[in-house]
Amino acid sequence: MIHVLVGTQWGDEGKGKYVDWLASRFYDIVARYQGGPNAGHTIIHQGEKLVLHMIPSGITQEGKLNVMGNGMVVDIEDLDAEIRRLRDAGIGVVGKLFISPLIHLILPFHKEIDRAKNGSSGIGSTGRGIGPAYADKYARKGVRIADLANPELFEEKAIRLFEEKKQEFPDVDFSSLRIEETCARYCEIYKRIAPLVVDIPAWLKKQAEQGRAVLCEGAQATFLDIDFGTYPYVTSSHPVSGGVSIGLGIPPNAVRGVWGVAKAYTTRVGGGPFPTELAGEQGDRLREWGAEYGSTTDRPRRCGWFDAVLVKRACLINGIEGMYLTKLDVLSRFSEIKVCYGYEGSMKWGEFPATAEEMAGVRPRYTTLPGWQEDISQCRKREDLPLAAHRYIEKLEELVGVRIGAVSVGPERDATIEL
Ligand code: GDP
Ligand code: IMO
Ligand code: MG
Repeated sequence: MIHVLVGTQWGDEGKGKYVDWLASRFYDIVARYQGGPNAGHTIIHQGEKLVLHMIPSGITQEGKLNVMGNGMVVDIEDLDAEIRRLRDAGIGVVGKLFISPLIHLILPFHKEIDRAKNGSSGIGSTGRGIGPAYADKYARKGVRIADLANPELFEEKAIRLFEEKKQEFPDVDFSSLRIEETCARYCEIYKRIAPLVVDIPAWLKKQAEQGRAVLCEGAQATFLDIDFGTYPYVTSSHPVSGGVSIGLGIPPNAVRGVWGVAKAYTTRVGGGPFPTELAGEQGDRLREWGAEYGSTTDRPRRCGWFDAVLVKRACLINGIEGMYLTKLDVLSRFSEIKVCYGYEGSMKWGEFPATAEEMAGVRPRYTTLPGWQEDISQCRKREDLPLAAHRYIEKLEELVGVRIGAVSVGPERDATIEL
């Protein structure tokens, strides 16, 4: 059984929280299929907050296996540090983490380029080298984990690529980089992770045949997808469910279910259009009450009302059959809550904006629902939720057209209410 969990907004919906919850009940394996250290997935482990960037969110649980697929890009020094951080927290990875040899590597010059270009692009990337690393992959120039097994050849390829970058980006300051030292460090780290590197498609097929259930964990989200997102204010991979086939080597007909995660309101980090953004006091309240600061970069997240047009579109693109809602507790204390049910404005190619400019020009149409005043963070059962919260959930289901299977009212695994 292979299922997928995807973000339906602009990221940080609480995918880590739900992957952890779902894995604890239904799945044996958690597999990442795209993205890299731009992701920040938060789970609460033994009362402590743990942010995972490249390692899948099933890693803290005994007996769960975790996969990093070829669709990812990896900073091997950061990966090494992430493994060490987990070890310090008492979580081992040997026998629990399986890494594709086909993963492309982020090299230090990718990060320099990413950071140097960030200001002018307006995208506000995480500065982790994601765009430049994927660009080299698609230009057929990248270096991969498999290359690290041959240090001489790896160094040759990395130096050639670095020399090209110096020519291509004469205005970027690469003077602090020592490529030979980097190559030596990377190859040392490779020796440590080599036992974890396996042929993922064949491994996964065997696991599935043995009856193990797999949950593919999306990073980023539908509207940060390179094709379906608000281009060019997107990431450089395919967070949508279709990315699973390419990013793990799972044939499309092997995927049996797709679930979506949405925050009970909307947030976005970085640049790009955001129709329901609340610039004033209400946006500040969502940010403060929801602690909306980036898990990877600490940047304040832009906040706004739930956008059903967006999430409905995500259901269409991903084939979402069931939704999970997070952070419903954050909406408590608002006397009124708005939900966007439509966009007004000129859209040349259909009902959804095709360009960032079109999206920036739409006027959201809202319906207003009554809020609830009580703290719901301690609710654990359907019946515990106030009537107004039920009405809110039902309205979202009606507008999005997909059933919500559970709502989350706190970051902990058990702060989850099945509906
Ligand atoms: P991800 O990238 O989709 O995994 O989400 P992040 O981890 O970047 O951001 C979600 C944040 O919300 C994290 O700090 C979570 O601990 C927190 N969180 C998740 N679910 C809930 C919830 O239901 N209520 C509250 N208050 N916080 C939550
Ligand atoms: P998770 O998995 C939120 C955003 C960045 C920027 C754009 C491109 O935690 O939901 P990149 O570094 O990928 O080139 O940045 O995408 N972004 C995210 N926003 N959550 C994420 O991941 C993100 N990963 C990238 O802020 O606007
Ligand atoms: Mg995040």
